[in-house]
Amino acid sequence: MKAKLCTSFAFLFICQMFLYAQSESTVLVDVDHRQSVSLNGDWHTIVDPYATGLYTFHHEVRKDGYYLNGAAEPGSDNLVEYDFAKSPTLKVPGDWNTQSPQLFYYEGLVWYQRDFDYQPQAHRRTFLHIGAANYKAMIWINGQHVCDHEGGFTAFDCEATQQLHAGKNFIVVAVDATRQADGVPTATTDWFNYGGLTRDVALVEVADSFIDDYDLHLNHERTEVGGWVHVQDASPGATITVAIPEANLSVTAQLDSSGNGLIRIPATGLQLWSPGQPKLYHILLSAGEDKLEDEVGFRTVETDGQNILLNGKPIFLRGISIHAEAPFRGGRANNDKDVETLLGWAHELGCNYVRLAHYPHDQRMTRATDRLGILVWSEIPVYWAEHFADPAVLKKAEQQLSEEIRRDRNKASIVLWSIANETPNTPERTLFLKTLAGDVRKLDSTRLVTAALLVRTEGHTKVIDDSLGEALDVIGANEYIGWYEQGPQGADTTEWKVAYNKPLIISEFGGDAKAGLHGPETQRWTEEYQASIFKHQLPMLNRIPQLRGMSPWILMDFRSPRRQLPGIEDGFNRKGLISDQGEKKKAFFVLQKAYKEGTIGKGE
Ligand code: GCU
Repeated sequence: MKAKLCTSFAFLFICQMFLYAQSESTVLVDVDHRQSVSLNGDWHTIVDPYATGLYTFHHEVRKDGYYLNGAAEPGSDNLVEYDFAKSPTLKVPGDWNTQSPQLFYYEGLVWYQRDFDYQPQAHRRTFLHIGAANYKAMIWINGQHVCDHEGGFTAFDCEATQQLHAGKNFIVVAVDATRQADGVPTATTDWFNYGGLTRDVALVEVADSFIDDYDLHLNHERTEVGGWVHVQDASPGATITVAIPEANLSVTAQLDSSGNGLIRIPATGLQLWSPGQPKLYHILLSAGEDKLEDEVGFRTVETDGQNILLNGKPIFLRGISIHAEAPFRGGRANNDKDVETLLGWAHELGCNYVRLAHYPHDQRMTRATDRLGILVWSEIPVYWAEHFADPAVLKKAEQQLSEEIRRDRNKASIVLWSIANETPNTPERTLFLKTLAGDVRKLDSTRLVTAALLVRTEGHTKVIDDSLGEALDVIGANEYIGWYEQGPQGADTTEWKVAYNKPLIISEFGGDAKAGLHGPETQRWTEEYQASIFKHQLPMLNRIPQLRGMSPWILMDFRSPRRQLPGIEDGFNRKGLISDQGEKKKAFFVLQKAYKEGTIGKGE
C-alpha cells in the first residue's frame, strides 16, 4: 500500500494516520455508571518524534510497527529496536508534560503500552473507553487496530470485543499532540498544549444490545419528562423501561426499527433542579439484558427577551471562567480532588455559574456541577483563527460538538453550549458558526446556544453587533478594559450598545497580577491594579441593561507558552483571582463581596 508522501515529519503521523482500516469511535452515554475494568495506572511509553514506530525510512507504513508490542527474543538475532517492557512509564490519566522534565515542551508522538488480564463474558460486548487523548490517538489491542480519534477534550468509546481474548492482553495507543493549523483548536491558543492520555481509560462491558444514548428532559411547560432512548442492535419488538423510583414513576416504550423509544412521563411531584436546590433523581433504564443507572436533575432553561429564565424565573449568572488545570501540582485536571478544589473556590467566590473554557472538561466536573448546583457554560475549542473555509475543519468541530453533547446532554447544570471564542468576524467564519449553531439545535433543543464574541469600539462606546449574534440565544462578549486597552478607570466612561434584544453575558474581563506583588493601583501586575480593574468594571457592567451574567477571566493562574515575562509570568497567564498555588489575590475579595452582597446583576 503506497503511502502519500507528506512534507514535514511532524505531520507524517497525522496525514497517514488513517491508512489503517478506519473504524469509528462512538460515545457511550453515562459510561461512568457502567460496569468497567479500569486501565488507569502506569503505562510503558516510547517517545517517538520521527514516528519510527509506524513508518519505514521511505514513509511506508511498517508491517512490524510498535503496535505489535514486539521484543527481541533472548538468543534470537532478529533485529527489534524497541521494547515497551524495558521502557519508562507514565501515569494514566495524566499529561506527559508535567510527569517528565524532558517532555515538558514535547509536542509529538508518544506510544503508550500496557498489559492487562481480561475474561470476556458470554453475550457481553466490550468497549474501550478513553476520557480524552490529546490530540490524535490510534489504538491497537493485541496488535489489531481498534480505532482512531481526533480531538483532545472529548470522550470516545471503541468496540474491542473482536480484539480481546481470555487471559493476558495488551493495548498500544499512539498519541500525537502535534498542534495543527487545521485542527480544532488551531495551532495558536493561550493555553498549554498538554499531551497524552489525559483522562480515564477503561474497558466497559455492555449487553449484546445496549443503551448507547438517551435524552430525558422536562418539557417547556414543566408538566412532563420527555425524550428518547436509543438501544444499539435492539431486537425487533424490544422495549425500553425508564423508571424514577423515588417519584414512583415508570414507563415502558416500544422501540422502533432503528432502536429508538420515545419516553413521556408525567412530571407531577418532581422537584425541579436549581442552584439553590440541585435535586438529582436516581434513574433506571432497562432494555432487555442491558441496565443503566444515572443521576439526573430536571429543570427548564430558556430566554425571554433580555432575560434568562431557569424554571420560568429570571436568573443572573454570577460566574467565573475556569481552565481544566490542576491546582498546586499543575498539568491537566483529571481527578475528584482537582474538581473539588476548583469548584470549592468558585463556591467560595459566591458563584452560581462557571464557564468551562475553552473545551469540554472532565466528566467529573459536570457531575460535580450537577451535585453542587452550579450552572455551566460548556464550549468546544473553536478558538481564534480557525481555518473556517475548510470543510474538513467544520467536520472536526461538528464531531467534537456531538461528542460533547452526547456525553453531557443529561446534565441539568449545563445550560449553555458555546460554539466559539473570539473568532474573526469574516463571512466564512460566520457561515461556519451558523452551521454549528444549527447543529447544536438539532442535537439538543433544550439548551441555549452562545459564543464569546469580540467587541467593536466607537469612541467611548463598546458595540456588540457581530452578525453571528443573530444565530445565538445568548450573546457572550469578551472585553479587557483596564488591561489590553485603557486603564481601569476607562470603564467609568464606557457605554455599551448591543444590537440584539437578547441576554448578554460578559464571558471574559480581567487583568494580570502576580500573587504577593503589591504596589499603587496604577502599577501593572500588582494585586492592587487587578483589584482596581474589578472595582471599575462592576459598576460599568451594572449599567448594561441586558447584562444577565458574567464569567471574569479567570479563577486560577494557568500555564500558557505565550506568557514569558520573567519574574512575573514565567510561563503563566496571571489573570487568575487565585494563583496556581492557591494564593487568593485582592481582586478575589472584590468580586466575592459583590457576589455575596448581590450588588452585581439584574433580572432576578
Ligand atoms: C482571551 C482568550 C483567553 C485568553 C485571555 C487572555 O480573551 O479568550 O483564552 O487567555 O484572553 O488574554 O488572558
